[in-house]
Amino acid sequence: MRSTRRIDPPATRRARATLAAVAALAIVAGAATTARAASMLDFDVWMRAIDRRSVDVQRHIDARRTDAAVADARELARLYGLMAAYFADDAHVADAVEMSRSGQALAAAIPGALAAQDYDGASRAAVDLAHACNDCHDVHKPFP
Ligand code: HEC
Repeated sequence: MRSTRRIDPPATRRARATLAAVAALAIVAGAATTARAASMLDFDVWMRAIDRRSVDVQRHIDARRTDAAVADARELARLYGLMAAYFADDAHVADAVEMSRSGQALAAAIPGALAAQDYDGASRAAVDLAHACNDCHDVHKPFP
């Protein structure tokens, strides 16, 4: 009995420690799930904005509305940057990170092209960006 008594308290402590660890893990898992869910909701908001801006930027370049086209391009670059971070940090999808970065680079090239009055170059970047949507959608849309 003496030996049992000596063994019991540490066993109880271990059990309590295990319970605490399980509870802590549950909290961490819950937080991770919440963060992921929020990002996925954000993702659809970004996508709809990308959808609209990728059309607007081409119209504005064609109409030589430079300020509006630059604003669209900057917003596209920002959204593609958010998407790259999402695919890198939350979803861990390497090829989607690459595609997001390449779209980001295309969008980021537009203001400079417009500043140099290279409307063809700006237009090409905008069209290339729009043509690349399906490269990602074919593989990754919808989310599993
Ligand atoms: C790097 C990947 C990637 C690129 C590039 C990309 N998309 Fe998406 N898009 C997705 C994924 C993934 C979904 C599905 C999201 C989901 O299932 O909730 C999606 C969904 C959408 C949706 C539906 C959004 C909704 O409300 O459900 C639209 C519209 C869209 N994309 C438009 C575009 C357009 C337009 C472009 C290019 C100008 C583009 N996307 C480029 C990954 C991408």
